[in-house]
Amino acid sequence: MAEPLLTVRDLSVRFPTTRGVVQAVNGVEFDLEEGQTIGIVGESGSGKSVTAKTLMNLLPRSAEIEGEVTFDGRDVREIAAKGEDHFWGVQMTMVFQDPMTSLNPVKRCGEQIAETLRYHLGHDKKKAISESIDLLERVGIPEPAKRERQYPHELSGGLRQRVVIAMALACQPRLLIADEPTTAVDVTVQKLLLDLLDDLRKERQMSMILITHDLGVARGRCDEVAVMYAGRIVERADSHTLFSDSRHPYTDALLRSIPRIEQPSHTRLDPIPGRPPELINPPVRCAYAPRCRFAQRNCLEEIPDVSGVVGMHSFACHYPANTERGEAALQSNLDRGETAGGLHLHAVAEGAS
Ligand SMILES: Nc1ncnc2c1ncn2[C@@H]1O[C@H](COP(=O)(O)OP(=O)(O)OP(=O)(O)O)[C@@H](O)[C@H]1O
Ligand SMILES: [Mg+2]
Repeated sequence: MAEPLLTVRDLSVRFPTTRGVVQAVNGVEFDLEEGQTIGIVGESGSGKSVTAKTLMNLLPRSAEIEGEVTFDGRDVREIAAKGEDHFWGVQMTMVFQDPMTSLNPVKRCGEQIAETLRYHLGHDKKKAISESIDLLERVGIPEPAKRERQYPHELSGGLRQRVVIAMALACQPRLLIADEPTTAVDVTVQKLLLDLLDDLRKERQMSMILITHDLGVARGRCDEVAVMYAGRIVERADSHTLFSDSRHPYTDALLRSIPRIEQPSHTRLDPIPGRPPELINPPVRCAYAPRCRFAQRNCLEEIPDVSGVVGMHSFACHYPANTERGEAALQSNLDRGETAGGLHLHAVAEGAS
């Protein structure tokens, strides 16, 4: 088998702060093949953006990074140490959630794309502008020659995000990281933008990391999905397996909280009770245990190893869903009248921490 384009091994990121050390990412591992898409899914604060920013070399200097990231066989931190700025822009680029973080409000849209082309590829001004008009057209912006001369505030949110996508794709990157690229737009525009990203990825044989808090967004758009909770990947599987045979109770809960096409339109969705944990000095336990419907006492005492590797399916749980062991644990909680989702353990956990 060919070498993966990107490998991430045992990646951990800590931020020393005045309140203590934030363990934002903890032992993250995944591979990404050329032309494939991996989805990284999890609630707010689970470490998705910090993982992406590590790959993009965008973390503040105070961040303590451990582990190894390689791109096409090269160590990404070495690339950063050598000051190869063009790497991020030509080989690997990123689209952020809010287009205004990437766009300069006082520069015309076309000029901003052209600057990227001139800086990274050395195009002259004329060639850069004509190529940016082509790019605006390719990302579905009507009247690209006119839009090229407009400022970001003259465009709708959806069009602005298309400009950002055009800018990220300008130098034909091999890997695009899209971090919640459609959170700032409405549902109809969201679908159009996600379809556009998908088409461009296929057309250019590009690899993509699609980051979202919404498992519904990852469905049908990723080859593989990694579910993050409190800085760790708690489950990783090919897309089909993840949606049809998930094992981690958190994935299970996420799946229950998204609408499904086959459900009758008034089916109640189950929100996940409780809040994600604090990442400063977390107690030694499964971070999800206090919210988990399956959790037993030992979940509060030991962090489960990543196990159950079946092919590419891995998960970290003592009582996996859709297994006999997990179902027995869930049943024993239900028998005790614990229907609220491990909240009986919440009180114990709070006392213990
Ligand atoms: N520069 C920083 N200094 C201290 N803590 C940070 C820093 N950047 C991120 N964090 C913390 O790291 C944790 C993970 O943050 P991250 O931005 O990766 O979450 P996320 O999964 O992207 O969430 P969201 O869905 O809200 O974007 C959070 O607790 C966040 O507060
Ligand atoms: Mg984020």
